[in-house]
This record gives sequence, structure tokens and C-alpha cells, in this order.
Amino acid sequence: MKHHRILTANFHHDDQHKLSAYESRSGYQAIRKALKQEPANLTTEVKDSGLRGRGGAGFPTGVKWGFVPKDSGKPIYLLNNADESEPGTFKDRILMERDPHLCLEGMMIASWALGANWSCIYIRGEFSYPTVRMQEAVDEAYAKGYLGKNIFDSGFDLDIVVHRGAGAYICGEETGLIESLEGNKGQPRIKPPFPAVMGLYGCPTVVNNTETLAALPWIIDNGASAYRAIGTEKSPGTKLFSASGHINKPGVYEVDLGYSLLEFIENECGGVWKGRELKACIPGGSSVPVMPADKLKGVNLDYESLAEAGTMLGSGGFIVMDDTTDMVDACANLQHFYTHESCGQCTPCREGARWVESMVNRLHRGQGAPSDLLVLQNVTEQIGGHTICPFGDALIAPIQSFLMHYRGEFEEKLDISLDAQIGANNV
Ligand SMILES: Cc1cc2nc3c(=O)[nH]c(=O)nc-3n(C[C@H](O)[C@H](O)[C@H](O)COP(=O)(O)O)c2cc1C
Ligand code: SF4
Repeated sequence: MKHHRILTANFHHDDQHKLSAYESRSGYQAIRKALKQEPANLTTEVKDSGLRGRGGAGFPTGVKWGFVPKDSGKPIYLLNNADESEPGTFKDRILMERDPHLCLEGMMIASWALGANWSCIYIRGEFSYPTVRMQEAVDEAYAKGYLGKNIFDSGFDLDIVVHRGAGAYICGEETGLIESLEGNKGQPRIKPPFPAVMGLYGCPTVVNNTETLAALPWIIDNGASAYRAIGTEKSPGTKLFSASGHINKPGVYEVDLGYSLLEFIENECGGVWKGRELKACIPGGSSVPVMPADKLKGVNLDYESLAEAGTMLGSGGFIVMDDTTDMVDACANLQHFYTHESCGQCTPCREGARWVESMVNRLHRGQGAPSDLLVLQNVTEQIGGHTICPFGDALIAPIQSFLMHYRGEFEEKLDISLDAQIGANNV
């Protein structure tokens, strides 16, 4: 199947990161067009396009923009979330490296639509090269008068700042990001109030993912209906998937939403490596449930189809596992990440993550008691829905789904003599 190239159209040009090259390929036309339109019309256009946030939750972008109060008397901020720290997800990184001006142009369009005169791109701490690329692009744009006062002679002022985080996954959660930008510990806030109403420095703030914003120039250039015509009715457009794991061609691929998951593995990913059998797939980054191969037939890469199958599109971090994978080992690996990244603010997450990890490790070592499986289930149920931010739900997705689909592998590692010693009824 031939897919549309909205975000990756110019990835193959080695000079695309330079402003002159970007402009020679129609770059910065969309912002010129946008600046001639009323901001409210732009928001309507984005709503009509059906664009949904690519940071994980899939919330409609234009609808989110509509929550920003225009009469608060406070400045409005746009934050581009390039924290991208979810295991398996590396698509924003490539966008910033290959087409930084596309990322900037998307931010300019959103800033104009929202009435934001200050915007920031918050980049994952470990991403030194993308930070350099984005900073060079920002510097070039300032030098050309595309940023700063009166951009493109429109009367609109816009400053953009490149900010590099310090390497904490939780700073990708939008309120953790805001806290971090304010110079505080990156610990998420209780919502409501939502950032659109009370965000950075207590002012209305929109946080959008890098990929979400990078889709805007195409939508403004081609119109909402052209975007809607791609993908499915409820999941329009294209999506970047960062494919990794046991496949022949790991990489970032742009596909029309609604594309068959198994065809994606065969065609884009080049099939399972070494001619082995597909065992499982985590289609949306480590925070979404794992899916066994036999449940993937007929599943498509869009929000609805993946949800119906029992998982999520998430951020498009597509992890493939072959039939040699030890699922207890894979689960232990993911749980270690979550324990390390809990911000420590709420007890169920801070303590629960640690307990889940140590129990999975114990099972992995063959030292788990049969009752551990019950305890694990119980502990995860106490975490889910009982925390300040969705990290708590994210950390239980691996263990709950691995246990649901691969319970036999966990049971094989049990030491059945142990319950007698510790008292199975005490759980
Ligand atoms: C633990 C955690 C980490 C997150 N990390 C990211 C991230 O790295 N990038 C991102 O865009 N969104 C991330 N999100 C989602 C953001 O909170 C927010 O929903 C998103 O940036 C909104 O942008 P969108 O509407 O364009 O998707 C994360 C959420 C959680 C709970
Ligand atoms: S759920 Fe975890 S990461 Fe989120 S605020 Fe609570 S302790 Fe921090």
C-alpha cells in the first residue's frame, strides 16, 4: 500500500535542516497563509481536520485549543512536547533531526491560532543532536526575521525557546513538563485545573506533541478535508511509528492510519528477523498492553481498532518480539524502567512500582511463590486509578497484560515449595 508522506516527505534530503533548503521545498508557505487568516478560523480548520494528539492520548487538537480562554488577560503559552522518553518511541527525535523547520513552522501556526507570543520546545535531556538541530533552526529563523518582532510582516510577535530537559520521563507528562520549565522538580500537578486554563506560570497553556504540531503546515497548505480524506473516519491522517525489536528493518515509518498491523510488520518492518515466528507486539510504546500474535489478525493501526483489540495506539512506539522472547524477562525489563522513573510523589506509584519490580525479578530468578501472582494482581489494582498522573496506569500496563496473556510463562518459573513456607493465605 502507498502511504501519504505528510511528515516525512523530505526526510531523504540531506540539507532539509537548513532554512534555505526547507524554503526551496515550499517551507514557510503555510505560516504565511495562516497569518492571513483569523486565528479562530485556524482552530476551526484544525478541528475539522480531525487531527488528534500524537503524544499518546489522542485528544483532538482543535478541541484542546478551544479550551484556552481568550479573555483571561494573561499571556498564552504554547509548549512543544519533545520529551519523548517512552521505551520504544523515537519518532519526534527523527522529526527534529531531519526536518527542524517543519517543527518550527507547526509551532508558529499553533502560536498564531492560540494568540501565544512565546513558545518553547522542551526536548528530552538525552537528545543532544536534535537540540543542536532545533537551536540552529531557531537561530536561522531569527536571523531571517521569521521569529521575533513582526514575523513575516504580519504584526505578530513570536519568540521560540529551545529548552533541553534533564532526562526524566515524567517531564513528558504535560504538568510535569510545566513544573520543570518553571524551574521546579518535574512532578505532575493534580488536574483540574488543566493547563489550557492554568498552565505555565498560572497562565493558559497548550501542550502539544512534536508530531502533532508538525502536521499543521500540511493541513493549512492542503485543507482540513484533504487531511480527513486520509486514514479512517475517526482516526484521520498519517502517523509515525517507531518500529524496534525483532524485525529486519527497525526505523521510523509514516503510514496512513487504519493500516493493517500485520502488513506493517511484513512490509515496512521487513518481517520478523531471522525467519522466526512473531510472538507478541507492543504497538504504542511501553505504556500500552502487549498483544500476543494470535490476537493481531484483522487489527489495524488506528485508535479505535487497537482499543477494540485490548491495547492502544499510544505514541506509536512499535515493539516486536519473536518466539524466542522470555516474556518474564521482557516484563522485568519494563518494570525496572517504571520504578526508576516514578517521580515519587504518590505512594501507590512510588512504593507499588518498587514492589512490582522486585516481585517480577523474584519470579524471573525462579524464586517466586505461587501466591506472588495473586499479590501482583492485587498490588497493580491498588495502583491503577489511584495516582496523581497517568504514570500509575502506565506502569501497570506491562505487568497486567503480560500476566493476562503469558501467565503460563510466569507459572513455569514459580517455586511451588515457597507458599507453604510463607503462608499463602496471608496475601
Ligand atoms: C508519564 C507520561 C509521559 C509522557 N510523555 C510524553 C512525551 O514524551 N511526549 C508527549 O508529547 N506527550 C507525553 N505525554 C502526554 C502529555 O501529557 C500530553 O498529553 C501531550 O504532550 C499532549 O500533546 P498532544 O495532545 O499533541 O498529544 C506523557 C504522559 C505521561 C503520563
Ligand atoms: S503517578 Fe507516579 S509519576 Fe505520577 S505523580 Fe504520582 S508518583 Fe509521580
